Amino acid sequence: MRRPSTIAIDGPAASGKSTVGCLLAERLGYLYFDTGVMYRAVTWAALGRGIAIEDEAAVTALARQLKIEVMRPTVDDGRQYTVLADGQDVTWDLRRPEVDRSVSPVSAYPGVRAALTIQQRRIGRKGRVVMVGRDIGTVVLPNADLKIYLDATVEERVERRYREVVSRGEPADYERVRDSVRRRDQIDSSRPLAPLRAAPDAVVIDTTPLSVEQVLERVLALVDGR
Ligand code: CDP
Repeated sequence: MRRPSTIAIDGPAASGKSTVGCLLAERLGYLYFDTGVMYRAVTWAALGRGIAIEDEAAVTALARQLKIEVMRPTVDDGRQYTVLADGQDVTWDLRRPEVDRSVSPVSAYPGVRAALTIQQRRIGRKGRVVMVGRDIGTVVLPNADLKIYLDATVEERVERRYREVVSRGEPADYERVRDSVRRRDQIDSSRPLAPLRAAPDAVVIDTTPLSVEQVLERVLALVDGR
């Protein structure tokens, strides 16, 4: 059996998509592409330019013109990749709480999605790629060779995100992290366009009781048709 060349991984906030997706791509020698960073980059740029998040027209115009580049890490500081927005390194800024707060409203705008989806498809078409997001299996790459949907209980995901923030040495407030994850899930799954959901042909993995290694092992088994 031929190895899947385009692999889509979707799932809610902090379900382990980025960790598993990055490790999987490394193992296979594929490109790892986290589409969440594109929505985050538009959000960060809007906040930085004083554009109101509610101003759909202005945010959409920004998404159309902002040059987002994702490349191999340029600094050895634990990052999975480097993200440039109009040439500026914004990799860590994209993880800030104010971006978390505003990214779901931004990504619900149809014009923003259209602009970013085009760029994501261009990357996906080349194959040998692990693409991670919310709508990869359903909208961006509906013909992906393998679709995986990673899930976990909200309690477990909040715990993971909280530990992640703490490990970066940032001030972390458990309740805040919980509210932010819940709110994002709620907006992402209820938006009319490209809502968060598993594609009918996706393999759903409940990662709640599993370690990263165990999830990776399951995914590798699927890749190898085991
Ligand atoms: O890492 P985490 O799951 O917390 O978030 P992310 O994958 O970086 O995505 C951030 C936000 O971007 C999500 O909450 C969605 O609102 C949006 N997003 C999207 O709408 N479609 C995608 N394909 C990827 C992200």
